[in-house]
Amino acid sequence: MCGIAGYIGKDGAKDFLINALKRLEYRGYDSAGIAVVEKGNEVRCVKKVGRIKELEDNIKNEKWGETVGIAHTRWATHGIPSEKNAHPHSDCDSNIYLVHNGIIENYKSLKADLERAGHIFKSNTDTEVLAHLVEKHFAGNLEEAVLNALKEVEGAYALAVIAREDPDKLVVAKKSSPLVLGFSEGETFIASDPSALVGFTDRVIYMDDGELGVITTDDYKIISIENNSEVNKKPNVIELDLSDIQKNGFEYFLLKEIFECPEVIKNSTRGRMIIEEGLAKLGGLEVLDQKRLRDIERIIIIGCGSASYAAMVGEYMLEEYAGIPVEVELGSEFRYRKPIIDERTAVLVVSQSGETADSLASLMEAKRKGALTLGIVNVVGSTVARETEAGVYNHAGPEIAVASTKAFISQIVVLALITVYMGRMRGMSMIMGKRILEEISNLPKLVEDVLQDSENIRTLAKKYSAYENFLYLGRKYNCPIAYEGALKIKEISYIHAEGYAGGEMKHGPIAMIDENFPCVFIAPKDSVYEKMCSNMEEVKARGGKIIAITTKGNEDLNDIVSDTIYIPKTLEMLTPVLACIPLYLFAAYVGIERGLDIDKPRNLAKSVTVE
Ligand code: F6R
Repeated sequence: MCGIAGYIGKDGAKDFLINALKRLEYRGYDSAGIAVVEKGNEVRCVKKVGRIKELEDNIKNEKWGETVGIAHTRWATHGIPSEKNAHPHSDCDSNIYLVHNGIIENYKSLKADLERAGHIFKSNTDTEVLAHLVEKHFAGNLEEAVLNALKEVEGAYALAVIAREDPDKLVVAKKSSPLVLGFSEGETFIASDPSALVGFTDRVIYMDDGELGVITTDDYKIISIENNSEVNKKPNVIELDLSDIQKNGFEYFLLKEIFECPEVIKNSTRGRMIIEEGLAKLGGLEVLDQKRLRDIERIIIIGCGSASYAAMVGEYMLEEYAGIPVEVELGSEFRYRKPIIDERTAVLVVSQSGETADSLASLMEAKRKGALTLGIVNVVGSTVARETEAGVYNHAGPEIAVASTKAFISQIVVLALITVYMGRMRGMSMIMGKRILEEISNLPKLVEDVLQDSENIRTLAKKYSAYENFLYLGRKYNCPIAYEGALKIKEISYIHAEGYAGGEMKHGPIAMIDENFPCVFIAPKDSVYEKMCSNMEEVKARGGKIIAITTKGNEDLNDIVSDTIYIPKTLEMLTPVLACIPLYLFAAYVGIERGLDIDKPRNLAKSVTVE
């Protein structure tokens, strides 16, 4: 959940590190810190509570002459956000400094042992034990000390370490938290996410679990932590564009990303549809033995948060059109159950970041049990992408706003493509395949149409921004979209909202309805439209206000609802894509109206790499 960065090279660690932290700020933003080794081997370490800006302002006039450095942006797990708990953490002698993303599970027993041996702790974090453990093993050579320290550690880490007494190197290590190295002439960069490297280099090495890297100004070495042997790894070139990680004239990344959705759908589908033959062409699945895929008897789709709602839409699609039994499981639940899985089960992990700890742990469990493992992942080269046997990239581009929008839309689109791909293996007609693909190819234009309505939605957001409760209701394909709409308004606007299946309202939530509890109905003209209308009548009869999202041209609701948002007509299974757009805009504009930073909601972080 935290972001780490490191640099070794010419003078100028500070500039890269602050730049990198700003790009990694989505991973956590309650405090930040930096430590650099100056020429002459002094260590400077500065930490600040709050956003990166606080840290940047504090050090901008410092002239350090630094060639090696590490930095961190924190999302607190152990210990409140404070300067003493902010990283980098150091040892008793102020020799070792390190930054860490992950959790040290056995930190309590390690800390007790270290305290018994006389080490003095300054923070409440699990990370600080690492600094003292490295100190315990340090005899002049930093990598040896880190290697030996990590042999005592249980848990997850992406780690970057420097030492005043071994100043010309940066030591990094990875287990279960992402870490990438970037190489340029005479400079090496490290970061939690390649977006921090854009504009500095495109030559990268993704560290794998159990690896330790030793980086000097002109060389690097990667070592297996388990057996101390060297691992031969060469940099790969990645494609990332600076404009992908800039706001491009939008006030917030969140708005930019919502408005990018038409382009995102084009990118997610480009080269993947042979419309005239009704076929989806998914290179990431073609690598598999197709008989194995055809023989799959059941799919379990795993995700967390929004990804789990996309998975639910996928469940409906795959069952209706590909005839495959599908279950959706939350990563955080699946990993602790005793799931019944065999080689005829496919476990499909849906994850924007590809680093979500609960989804990853579920994936590893599925692998152990012999399932076919698949992924739908946005971040190229992420752990889920590397650990699954096959999969499909979203190609949504970097999603910087903490709340997921464009990645969610692309997840649904990719699931629709997979439905056609697998459906055509299992008796879906060419005509049906063609019909679905034609409708998918129309989506960018239809999403554009919905975005044209943004000013109306802004006006509605103003009207409703003072309410403290909302109920979101939807059925069938739009039931998960009710959950998603409620999640977004909670995250972005801090308004209490509940998402419910329309038919469930009368089993309890209806008790809450009064004139202060508006209901958002997702009610396109589809197979469950009439049922949704009955639910609307029930709300109206109790004095509740209704905002309806329905199909363009539908005037039937005028007497029942307070406000209407129209979406164009499309195939029922694709209505979630169109219905999400107004819900996203509504949540964003309500958040802005309430004066909130909609890109970085409080208490959250984008990539949840802890349990
Ligand atoms: C909600 C949101 C989260 C993520 C969830 C899974 O707006 O962003 O609920 O969807 O944390 O993250 P990924 O997709 O990276 O596994």
